[in-house]
Amino acid sequence: MTLYDKYIRYAESDMYPFHMPGHKRNTELMHMMNPYGFDATEIDGLDDLHRPDDKEGWIRDSEKLAAQLFHSKYSFYTVNGSTGALIASILAMSKPHQKVLVARNCHISIYNAIALARLDPVYLWPKMDKDGICASIKPEQVQQAFAQYPDIRLVILVSPTYEGVLSDIKGIASIVHSHNASLLVDEAHGAHLTFDQRFPESATETGADGVVQSLHKTLPCLTQTAILHVCSDRIDPNSVKRMIAVEETSSPSYVLVCSCDQCIHLMQDHGRELFDAYWQRLNNFDQQMKNLQNLHILCHGNDIKENHPGFYDFDPGKILISTKGTNITGPELSKTLRETYHLETEYTRMDAVLAMTSVADTDTGFARLEKALLEIDARLNKQENMQESFITDSTITTGALSPCQALEKEAENVEPDKAIGRIAREAIFAYPPGIPILVSGENITREQLSYLKKMQEAGLQVVSASHGFPHHLEVCK
Ligand SMILES: Cc1ncc(COP(=O)(O)O)c(C=O)c1O
Repeated sequence: MTLYDKYIRYAESDMYPFHMPGHKRNTELMHMMNPYGFDATEIDGLDDLHRPDDKEGWIRDSEKLAAQLFHSKYSFYTVNGSTGALIASILAMSKPHQKVLVARNCHISIYNAIALARLDPVYLWPKMDKDGICASIKPEQVQQAFAQYPDIRLVILVSPTYEGVLSDIKGIASIVHSHNASLLVDEAHGAHLTFDQRFPESATETGADGVVQSLHKTLPCLTQTAILHVCSDRIDPNSVKRMIAVEETSSPSYVLVCSCDQCIHLMQDHGRELFDAYWQRLNNFDQQMKNLQNLHILCHGNDIKENHPGFYDFDPGKILISTKGTNITGPELSKTLRETYHLETEYTRMDAVLAMTSVADTDTGFARLEKALLEIDARLNKQENMQESFITDSTITTGALSPCQALEKEAENVEPDKAIGRIAREAIFAYPPGIPILVSGENITREQLSYLKKMQEAGLQVVSASHGFPHHLEVCK
């Protein structure tokens, strides 16, 4: 059986996707002809993603429409995900050796970009919410970082986070700009925000200079599609274009580019009705989840946003089901959802499971999730099972070396227990969500190692750049 046969068999099964991509394999909503029938790249007559102004202008027109809908000055499609768009933005918005303030709950692609751009990062740690997830970064924290490091030139935040927590971008942007620095927001999980006022505001409208969004995560668009928005004069759009050309294939798939265009037109023509129906599904879900006795869902059902004073705002499209205080773990819950109810979720923590939703979800999909959660909940008991987290308090830190300096050192592999106090040469993270527990250049602590061990024991996928973990860690010689 070929890989294709295996994928088709999976796609045709009754497994329902509460995960990315945001099109949810909903072929009634999104369709194209057989991709082999029109797969091409920049040949004469077919425009050029790398030079949209020079040719027919189809892509330029589509990007202009996107800029209008997202309220940016310029918007650029890319087919290398937010990963590529973040690398391009960071290269375009910085100069080597500049100081950059980075929320420490950022995605691994940002740390890789910082190493490539040879930047000198200062890490801002968010506070933890009582549910063990990162709360918002507060404007006061950013102010404090500038007081300590006035030479910060670029600030990089993730908002919303993987779990749906937003920061006060407006408040933060005004502090960043008053220090003559620029603000880049990783809004990989927020491409849908602009299209309905009942959702929190997008960073494209609240003062960020650069914003990166994965179209494929929360909108109905094919995997790999993303968009990079230039929102102010603090970024030169020509530098952005040059850097996109650096990180992106020279043969971009027009199947993907057409998917971006289809998605944007769908939002323009039918966004209103699609979001009305989506909102209705989320409201019904909320009502149903009020009946849970053991599980609880972040900012849904009986849990309201006001219970989380550390959250500036929350995206209700994210459904984080907490198993805390019950006799089931996150991995056990996602296994039951998969094996008994044929519901595949997005991400599993030790004490929670994340279901991702979008306008492409169906009433049937939501009804299946509601039924499954209520049935599972009725079989659970209360049990103390608090999980610790490696982020303990809100602080500002730096590595012993910058990621770039660490990568220039010679590598040495050591057993994890012998790595305490050494400088990490590699990053280690659970994927998803791809937030490094350990960043290249940081001093390795006992707490980080014990957290990594716990995740591994709980069956989560722990990835180290050298692929050596759990047998060894790569440290600087
Ligand atoms: C917060 C965040 N930023 C960036 C990315 C990278 O996005 P992409 O998969 O579109 O490259 C991810 C991926 O999950 C993410 O969660």
